[in-house]
Amino acid sequence: MSKKLLLAKAHVPGIRTYEVYRHEGGYTSVEKALKMTTDEVVEEVKKSGLRGRGGAGFPTGMKWSFIAKPEGVPRHLVVNADESEPGTFKDRYLMEFIPHLLIEGMIVSSYALGSNVSYIYIRGEYAWITNILEQAIDEAKANGWLGKNIQGSGFDCEIYVQRGGGAYICGEETALIESLEGKRGNPRIKPPFPAVKGVWERPTVVNNVESIAAVVPIINEGGEEYAKIGIGRSTGTKLISACGNINKPGIYEIDMTISVEEFIYSDEYCGGIANGKKLKACIPGGSSVPILPANLLLTTAKGEKRLMNYESLSDGGFATGSMMGSGGFIVLDEDQCIVRNTYTLARFYRHESCGQCSPCREGTGWMEKILQKIETGKGEMSDIDLLWDIQRKIEGNTICPLGDAAAWPVAAAIRHFRDEFEWHVNNPTLCLTENYGLRHYADKIHVPV
Ligand SMILES: Cc1cc2nc3c(=O)[nH]c(=O)nc-3n(C[C@H](O)[C@H](O)[C@H](O)COP(=O)(O)O)c2cc1C
Ligand code: SF4
Repeated sequence: MSKKLLLAKAHVPGIRTYEVYRHEGGYTSVEKALKMTTDEVVEEVKKSGLRGRGGAGFPTGMKWSFIAKPEGVPRHLVVNADESEPGTFKDRYLMEFIPHLLIEGMIVSSYALGSNVSYIYIRGEYAWITNILEQAIDEAKANGWLGKNIQGSGFDCEIYVQRGGGAYICGEETALIESLEGKRGNPRIKPPFPAVKGVWERPTVVNNVESIAAVVPIINEGGEEYAKIGIGRSTGTKLISACGNINKPGIYEIDMTISVEEFIYSDEYCGGIANGKKLKACIPGGSSVPILPANLLLTTAKGEKRLMNYESLSDGGFATGSMMGSGGFIVLDEDQCIVRNTYTLARFYRHESCGQCSPCREGTGWMEKILQKIETGKGEMSDIDLLWDIQRKIEGNTICPLGDAAAWPVAAAIRHFRDEFEWHVNNPTLCLTENYGLRHYADKIHVPV
C-alpha cells in the first residue's frame, strides 16, 4: 500500500471544515515554517526534490529560487487550478474534499516567496469548488492564519480566488497571468519569465495545486524524509486521475516506485480492464502526451518493467516512451479506434488554440480536417504523410507549448498505429461501422496472465 501524504485525511468526516482539519493536525506546517527563515523553507523544498505536478515536472524549489527580488516591488504566488487537460481531474478532488490543505500550502509558500497577496486561478466550470475554497479562506482568516500579522509572526497574507472563463489555454502560465489581469488569455512571449515579470509586471511564481499542497508534508516531515519516498528524481507521492476502460476509475495517490502493470491490474488501483476486455493502449499523462501501445506501455524498449514515474514513463524518448505529464491516465481497450480518438483530440486542440501563431492556428485546423477525412472513410494514403508533415512543422515553432501538445498525440498515433490509419484508408466503408479489430493486434494487445 502506497504511503498517503495528500489524501491520507481526505475521507475523515467533516475534513472540509476548519475545526476537523485543525483537529487532524492541520496548519502545523505554517507554525513550523513561520519559525524558519524564508530561505530555509525554500531549502527544504529543494531538498525534497519535488517536481511541479502541473505537467512539465520542473523542480519547485529551483523555480522558487529564481524569483526576482527588486527593492520595494511586491511579489506574488499564483496557484494554477485551471485543470483543463482532458483526462486530468486530480486538483479538483484535492480542492473539493480537503481545501484547507491547499490553503495551508499556500500560506507556507507565500511566506517563502514573500508574497503578501496570492491568488488561486480556477477554471470557470469549477464554480462549486470556488465556493468551497472561499469558505476555507474565510475560516482560515477567522482563525488567524490569513490577514495581518499571521500568528504574531509579522507576516501578512491574503488569498483571492479568481474564476477563469473556461479556456484551456488559460492553464498555460502566461495566458493565466493575462487572464488574471482581466485581459484575453493569450500566452506571452518568454523571456521575460514570470519569475521576473509576471502579474502586473511583478515577480510571480505559478505553481500547480498539487505542487503547493505537497509543500505541507515537506515542511511537516522535512525535505529529506519526503525525498526518501519514490525513486530517482521522482520523489514523494503523485496523484493520478485514472479513466477510460478500467474497472475502477478515480484518483489514486501513488508511490512512484510501482509498475504501470500493477497500477492497471491491481485491485488497489484501476482493478484491470473493464468488461473483461484487453488493454490496447494508454495515454499516461493527460491528452497531450504521446499514446503508447500496450507492449511499450508495460515494458520499456530495453525490456524492463515500466514504472509510474517521470523517468520510466519517458524512457526511450518519444520513439518508444511517453511522459508523466499531469498524471491524467487514459486507458483504451481493444475496441477503441485510434483514428477516432486522435480526431477527437485534434478537434479539442483546434478549438482551444488562441490563434496567435500561424503554425498552431492553421496547423491544428488542418490536422482536424485530415483526421476527419480519414475517420469518415474519405482518406487517401498521402493524407497520413501529410498529417505527419504538419505535426512536425508545428512542434517547436510556436509561442507556447499548446502547439506541441496538439502535435504530439498525432505523431504518436501515426508512429505506433500507422497500420490502423492505413486500414481506414483501405476500408472506406468498413471503417464507419467496424473497429480495427483484435486480430490485427496480436503483438500489441496485452493479455494479463
Ligand atoms: C496549454 C497549456 C495548458 C496548461 N494547463 C495547466 C493546468 O491546467 N494546470 C497546471 O497546473 N498547469 C498547466 N499548464 C502548465 C503551466 O504552464 C505551468 O507550467 C504550471 O502551472 C507550473 O506549475 P508546476 O511547476 O507546479 O507544475 C499548462 C500548460 C500549457 C502549455
Ligand atoms: S501555440 Fe497556439 S495556443 Fe500557444 S500562443 Fe501559439 S496559437 Fe496560441
